[in-house]
Amino acid sequence: MKFAKLGKSNIEGSVLALGTWSFGGWTWGGQDETAAIDAVHAAIDCGINLIDTAPMYGFGKSEEIVGKAIKDRRNDVIIASKCGLRWDCADGVHFFDTGKDDIKDNGNIGVYRNLRPASIRLEVENSLKRMNIDCIDLMQTHWQDPTTPIEESMGELLKLQEEGKIRAIGASNATVNELKQYLSVGDLVVNQEKYSMIDYEMEDSGQLNFCADSSIAFLAYSPMAQGLLSGKVTPERKFNEGDQRLRYERFSTENRVNMQKMLSEFANIAETHNATMAQLVMAWTLQQRGCTHLLVGSRNIQQAKENAASADINLTTEEVASMTAILKEYRKILV
Ligand SMILES: NC(=O)c1ccc[n+]([C@@H]2O[C@H](COP(=O)([O-])OP(=O)(O)OC[C@H]3O[C@@H](n4cnc5c(N)ncnc54)[C@H](OP(=O)(O)O)[C@@H]3O)[C@@H](O)[C@H]2O)c1
Repeated sequence: MKFAKLGKSNIEGSVLALGTWSFGGWTWGGQDETAAIDAVHAAIDCGINLIDTAPMYGFGKSEEIVGKAIKDRRNDVIIASKCGLRWDCADGVHFFDTGKDDIKDNGNIGVYRNLRPASIRLEVENSLKRMNIDCIDLMQTHWQDPTTPIEESMGELLKLQEEGKIRAIGASNATVNELKQYLSVGDLVVNQEKYSMIDYEMEDSGQLNFCADSSIAFLAYSPMAQGLLSGKVTPERKFNEGDQRLRYERFSTENRVNMQKMLSEFANIAETHNATMAQLVMAWTLQQRGCTHLLVGSRNIQQAKENAASADINLTTEEVASMTAILKEYRKILV
């Protein structure tokens, strides 16, 4: 495993990190809790120390599972969580309503973006309790709240840092301008954004370069396009009821077929490195300028092991360039 500092902090996170959105079950068609806990242990055994969660993932469930899994391994891990999405209070700005199929027991729930200082403090306290820990290593604002000045949110996060409740601060789903506003108030060490071979807005918007130039760690989320880039989502693959992927055009038969065609063009390079397609895709993504860490959602032991090993693959400049050239052609047809 390789490690990289979270920006200018002294926290070293494994470049291949464990994402735990699916642990909440919500929008992922459920998740077996034992498999999730086993995945955390396997990930740690393979050298992963950075674990990303959020209150929103299953309305507290993901944090609870992470807390259980790391109970006896707290010193082996860096816990990253988030704040700013509330489903239990209608302050801030309405973001979305959960579909009634998403959470079977609760039905429709309104979710609000809220980065007001008092709300951030409450969320940090709640997350500490759910995970049964006394400090969160990295606290990230999950989605930006246009009704609260960034200075106020960042001010509260800095107070929480001084009090020892959080160690470092990051932002997610933010623009470059918003990142600059955070930086004008204090040390922002992480930017967490959607980035994969087929989600490349962060290349076009200059965010990857901005982070590289500003020494901010860039944590790519959904780097496998929710599994589509793994090579295992063939047209035959079925998803459980309540899995968001059932709704996305990206997971249509046509797109799956095109994706398989693109991946087949990478086969020689995968073979050279004795890598699976998923590992090759992760290796390419990690070698893009500015992309310091990948948050990959592993749902079981096998995925955790396979994903962790991708950090050890070193592609040559020519291999990266050749994959990029193929990718650029397929970006014209892939959704
Ligand atoms: N800040 C934000 O707004 C935000 C948004 C999204 C995600 N995130 C973070 O980023 C993390 C990762 O993103 P993500 O979970 O959306 O997507 P992802 O990492 O691109 O894909 C994860 C999914 O791919 C499949 N998979 C994983 N490893 C595999 C392997 N080796 N072979 C085959 N399939 C594999 C699994 O689903 P199946 O096995 O069911 O196919 C898994 O749930 C999240 O868990 C979360 O921590 C943050």
